[in-house]
Amino acid sequence: MRTFDENHNALIPGSIQGLMPGSIPGSIPAGSRHSAAPAVRVIAVTSGKGGVGKTSVSANLGVALSMSGKRVLLMDADLGLANVDVMLGLQPIYNLFHVLAGERTLEDVMLEGPAGMRVIPASSGLKGMAELSHLEHVGLIRAFSELRTPPDVLLVDTAAGISDSVVTFSKAAHEVLVVVCDEPSSITDAYALIKLLSREHGVFRFRIVANMVRSSQEGSELFRKLTRVTDRFLDTSLDYAGAIPFDEYLRKAVQKQRAVVDAYPRSRAALAFGKLAQKTRQWPAPQAARGSIEFFIEQLVTHNEARTVAFP
Ligand SMILES: Nc1ncnc2c1ncn2[C@@H]1O[C@H](COP(=O)(O)OP(=O)(O)OP(=O)(O)O)[C@@H](O)[C@H]1O
Ligand SMILES: [Mg+2]
Repeated sequence: MRTFDENHNALIPGSIQGLMPGSIPGSIPAGSRHSAAPAVRVIAVTSGKGGVGKTSVSANLGVALSMSGKRVLLMDADLGLANVDVMLGLQPIYNLFHVLAGERTLEDVMLEGPAGMRVIPASSGLKGMAELSHLEHVGLIRAFSELRTPPDVLLVDTAAGISDSVVTFSKAAHEVLVVVCDEPSSITDAYALIKLLSREHGVFRFRIVANMVRSSQEGSELFRKLTRVTDRFLDTSLDYAGAIPFDEYLRKAVQKQRAVVDAYPRSRAALAFGKLAQKTRQWPAPQAARGSIEFFIEQLVTHNEARTVAFP
């Protein structure tokens, strides 16, 4: 029988239950890590279609949450051109590969963005998670477990499309935030992503944010369009997280390599990101046992290891 954990998105298929925390040889014993650490909420920001605003939403939601006093870590899991570091004018020197090589600590790799938000820049290591060795997996989990100040929220800006990496991050996260805009291809691609995650990967709960809308009605209508098809064909639960208006100030901020919430805090987009941040703070907290950052990394790893076993 399948079990659904309300505080975690994914089903735990029997086949990978043997790979739950602490079961990876050489990893840190589960009980010692998960009980004391405060819960970290992991939010994967995704969309199906590219260019609809994932990086804008991740960066601005992250900065808005930081401004409200949360400790935020934004992980850039996209190797595309419009990266988080470019958008925020940060200059990465190291990435996770340097951590895996034992040359740098995770703290060395992290950059500081607006309002103290920390950023882990993109690295090809994340795309090739499946190719990392077992020891590297363990090293990665250890690096996260040794963070001096674990974040309250870990945001993951995923790549465009429906790649293995998008599936892996969405599956391991507590919340999957799907960005859509009012274009047929954005809606069909978001639907395709939701369909794949629910039918093949046991992810059933999604939060939807409508981006670049011209009115709040357009946002709620967009949400209705999407739920009309998901309710009809899929066994999923979609929650409306709100809308971000189309705003020239956001474009201006992108050109200045700044977050709109930082550069133009009174713009319509910035106010909407503030609301979105407030809303995310009200989402139910993840269960303590599933709320540690190393648990999330371990989920990424076990997903890949389970896949390697299932599809040699
Ligand atoms: N609410 C908005 N108002 C105005 N422009 C926006 C808004 N959201 C995004 N944009 C514009 O769209 C561009 C693409 O956004 P962004 O890079 O965030 O999309 P993405 O989904 O991360 O793209 P990719 O799939 O390539 O990673 C931004 O550079 C910005 O100029
Ligand atoms: Mg992007």
